[in-house]
Amino acid sequence: MMRVLITAGPTYEPIDPVRFIGNRSTGKMGYALAEAFAARGADVMLVSGPTQLQLQHPLIEVIAVQTADEMYAAATRIAPQADVWVFAAAVADYKPKSMAVNKIKKEGDTLTLELVKNVDIAATLGHLKRPEQFSVGFALETNDEETHARAKLQRKNFDLIVLNSLRDAGAGFGHDTNKVTLLTAGGQMTIFDLKPKAEVARDIVQTVLASLSAIPT
Ligand code: CTP
Ligand code: CA
Repeated sequence: MMRVLITAGPTYEPIDPVRFIGNRSTGKMGYALAEAFAARGADVMLVSGPTQLQLQHPLIEVIAVQTADEMYAAATRIAPQADVWVFAAAVADYKPKSMAVNKIKKEGDTLTLELVKNVDIAATLGHLKRPEQFSVGFALETNDEETHARAKLQRKNFDLIVLNSLRDAGAGFGHDTNKVTLLTAGGQMTIFDLKPKAEVARDIVQTVLASLSAIPT
């Protein structure tokens, strides 16, 4: 049985006990991918940041996390046993250097938070990828989309990257639809129409399965 690791949703990086740095990711694309892989009989481990979404499928195990560090720990544990990795999470690029133990009191007119870079989950695992494993990444871009996506594909050792352009209406965060372009490590590019995220997920799964069956074992 094929085993799939998916990261999904945002990460929340704590500032103090009541505040965090997050983003507007809803997790819809990652959850739709989990369902699409499960519908094809794959065993799915979904490492999910905080979302409003619910999933009930016997083939999907949800591992709930909050921070990028927790997501990284869970993904690192699962990745060696997974045939396919899908990095759909909107991981916060930076986190507060330290979490305040107590709620930060309102004092001066300005407040400066020092942030440090989070671990790049996809890139770090990408360097550990075995030849028979297949890694899928996402890129959300506003400009020079193809160039940026290709650079990410190489930097993170992806086999396939799903490019979302924020210039396309109805694509990206919060929408129930998405418009994607798939770029392969081999240089192929496929542009898909705007469609519901469940259908986009099926297109991506179909591309992954076709690529895997083309890899000589
Ligand atoms: N990603 C990850 N861990 C991070 C940041 C990103 O695993 N700390 C993954 C995302 O899940 C996605 C891919 O890397 O599959 C690209 O994410 P993106 O935010 O577009 O890339 P960055 O390298 O963070 O570059 P930037 O935000 O500056 O465009
Ligand atoms: Ca980023």
